Amino acid sequence: MLITLEGLDGSGKTTAWEHLRDRYTEYCFTREPTHSWYGDAVSRSLNNDNADPLAELFLFMADHADHLHRRIIPALNQGKTVISDRYSDSRIAYQSAALAESRLENPFEYIRSLHRPFSYSPDLTIYFSIDPETAAERAGATNKFERTDYLRLVEAQYERLFSAGTRRVTRIDATQPKTAVANQVSERIDAAMSWTAWFDWGHWPSYAGLFRIRQRILFRRWDI
Ligand code: TYD
Repeated sequence: MLITLEGLDGSGKTTAWEHLRDRYTEYCFTREPTHSWYGDAVSRSLNNDNADPLAELFLFMADHADHLHRRIIPALNQGKTVISDRYSDSRIAYQSAALAESRLENPFEYIRSLHRPFSYSPDLTIYFSIDPETAAERAGATNKFERTDYLRLVEAQYERLFSAGTRRVTRIDATQPKTAVANQVSERIDAAMSWTAWFDWGHWPSYAGLFRIRQRILFRRWDI
């Protein structure tokens, strides 16, 4: 099972990820950008206000490809649950916003299409919903993306992505106190895990709706 945490900078998802790491000690915890040398290249680019946004997209993509093959797929193949702080949706939201004024006709679709041939769809995405003003204030503008006007654009891309009926996504009100957010995140994960466990027990009803859920869990229908 692959679970991803998504949201604007300052939405508190990294704090929640740390809380989850203490609670679910048997899971595999990871993040994007990663700590590999590809991730270091991404960080260099993030710290450069003049970095080319298309080149930056490909740095993020290289980091993602390496992350998938080195960390995520091996962990999933061992039957582990993986929780990633940011994943493909971050690219679709942040880089679509960064490329909005570029020569690309439709950056949003372009970035989705880059992922489809090789990436891996999450089973559950927890979206930390927060207004861009509060997010920017909390994030403290430590990188070029953590500004209210840019985060407004990013939020619009996340909404576009999730309003298209992406069933894997569940929202959390990230303006609540940290403990309330952390508890809700754990509840959603426990609920998803109990469904998976139930299916693992081999109860396979023939009824069509449940059959589709079963297909989704077993065959990871593409949902990026
Ligand atoms: P992150 O490490 O989550 O931020 P923080 O500094 O709060 O720990 O991510 C670093 C920045 O990179 C963040 O502003 C979001 C951005 N980002 C993208 O633009 N595209 C991506 O694909 C990813 C994974 C992150």
